[in-house]
Amino acid sequence: MSALRCGLGWDSHRIAAGRPLILGGIHIPSDFGLEGHSDADILLHAITDAVLGALALGDIGMHFPDTDPRWKGAGSAQFLQHALQLAADRGYSVVNVDTTVILEKPKLKDYRQQIREAVAATMALSIDLVSVKFKTAEKVGPVGEGRSAEAQAIVLLQATR
Ligand code: C5P
Ligand code: MG
Repeated sequence: MSALRCGLGWDSHRIAAGRPLILGGIHIPSDFGLEGHSDADILLHAITDAVLGALALGDIGMHFPDTDPRWKGAGSAQFLQHALQLAADRGYSVVNVDTTVILEKPKLKDYRQQIREAVAATMALSIDLVSVKFKTAEKVGPVGEGRSAEAQAIVLLQATR
């Protein structure tokens, strides 16, 4: 069994009026939000895929199909916690997580601490192990034109036994 395993996650959702903008479980005040079958929390989806990736256990859609009515409007923390349980079952714990959210607006930096605290709580990690970064796409492409948002995550797991 490898002592360390890293995993990469990425997610993208369309921006839509009349939807909430939820990042890391935190509701961000905004005129628009993200489309999706679940709560469309791109940050938690990217982190979930990173954990599954580190375990080589497929991806979030394999474990939580968006055709399944059970996941309609579902809070994404349960997806991440399920992936973390799969890691724990295999004897792995999270060393740290680093993420980037790419969204043209609104400005997110004032919510960084709140999002980090929420992600850390969901993952049962200390906050200094959770990094959340924000970028615009400089008005270029679908993200830059305000049509979508993206999130990237990398997670390092360590063997606990
Ligand atoms: O994309 P850009 O390099 O112009 O972002 C500059 C800074 O603005 C970033 O360091 C980030 O902290 C912040 N930012 C933000 N909310 C966004 C995009 C960027 O707070 N939606
Ligand atoms: Mg998603």
